[in-house]
Amino acid sequence: AFTPRVFSGIQPSGGLTLGNYLGAIKRFVSMQDEAYETIYCMVDLHAITVWQDPADLARNTRELAAGFIASGISPEKSILINQSQVPEHAQLGWIFNCVARMGWMKRMTQFKDKAGKNAEAASLGLFGYPALMAADILIYHATHVPVGEDQKQHLELTRDIATKFNHDYGVDFFPLTEPVIEGAATRVMSLRDGSKKMSKSDPSDASRINMTDDADAIAKKIRKAKTDPDALPSEAAGLAERPEARNLVNIYAALNDQTVDQVLAEVGGQQFGTFKPLLAELAVAKLSPISEEMARLMADTAEIDRILARGADQAREIAAPILQKTYEIVGM
Ligand code: ADP
Ligand code: NA
Repeated sequence: AFTPRVFSGIQPSGGLTLGNYLGAIKRFVSMQDEAYETIYCMVDLHAITVWQDPADLARNTRELAAGFIASGISPEKSILINQSQVPEHAQLGWIFNCVARMGWMKRMTQFKDKAGKNAEAASLGLFGYPALMAADILIYHATHVPVGEDQKQHLELTRDIATKFNHDYGVDFFPLTEPVIEGAATRVMSLRDGSKKMSKSDPSDASRINMTDDADAIAKKIRKAKTDPDALPSEAAGLAERPEARNLVNIYAALNDQTVDQVLAEVGGQQFGTFKPLLAELAVAKLSPISEEMARLMADTAEIDRILARGADQAREIAAPILQKTYEIVGM
C-alpha cells in the first residue's frame, strides 16, 4: 500500500490566472487538511519547453510561489518546491523517456495545441514533457493529483508509464495515480471566446483574470466578457448550449463554494447587466486579499527563497530513496 500523497504543479511561464486558481490551487489548499501528504511545485523545467526570458522566469517562479502561499498553501502543512531544485525529477524523467513510446506522445492533444502548425520547430522538451510530468508525480509515489480537466490525458499517460515500467521489470513499484478533477470550474474558459480555455499563455489579456489584476481591471474584464442576450436560467440544464453564460456562472459558483444549481436558484431570471456586477464584486472580494498578500511577499523574496530551499530538502528525503530503488530495479 502506498502512503496517500498528493503532488501537483503549475508552470511559472507567466502570471497566475483565475483558471489556475479555481481549477487547481483552491483544491491544493483544501487537500492540505485532508489525510494526505501534500507536495506542490513550480515546474520551471516544463516552462522552458517554450522560450522564457531568464529574468522573467526567475521572477515568475517566485511570484508563483507567492501566489501559492497567498492562496493558503502553508509551508508548515505542505512541501513547496521549485522543480529544478530537486534534480531527482529530471533523473527519473530520463528513465521514463525510455519507457514511454513515441506513439503515445504523438497522441497528446496539448502538444498539438501548443506546437501549432509547425510541429517540426517545437522543442524536443515540449514533445517529451508528459514523461517528465509522470516523473514529477511518481518520484514521490504520489497517489493523487489535483488538476484541471486539460491535464486528464497527461494523467492517463502517467498511469501508462507506471504500468509499463512495472510490467517490463516485473515489479509492483510505481502506483497508478488518480487524477482529482472536481468542482464547478475544472475548465474555466476564456472571457473572449467560450471555446478556448482561460490561459496565461493567451496573447489577449482581456481573455483572462490574472491573480495580480486590481479591482478595476477585474470589474472591467467581467463587464466586457462575451455573453448572450438571454436571461439566466433557473437550472444548470438551461446553460447546456450557452458556453459563455455557463462559464460565468461556473466561475461564480466556484468562487463562492456553491454548486451551479445553488447559484441559479438565486440569480435565475436575471440579465447579465445585473449578474455581471455581482460576479465582479464577488471576484474582487475573493481575489484582492490574495493579490495584496502576493505583493507583500514579493517585496522581500528572501522569505520565499528560504521556504523553497527548505522544501527542496524535504522533497529530496522522499525522492532520493525512490530514485535509488528505481536505479536498482533497472540494473544501475
Ligand atoms: P496554463 O494553462 O495557464 O499555462 P498550467 O499548464 O501551468 O497552466 O496548469 C496548471 C494547473 O492549472 C493545471 O492543473 C491545469 O489543469 C490548471 N488549469 C490551467 N488552466 C485552467 C483553466 N482554464 N481551467 C481550469 N484549470 C486550469
Ligand atoms: Na495546462
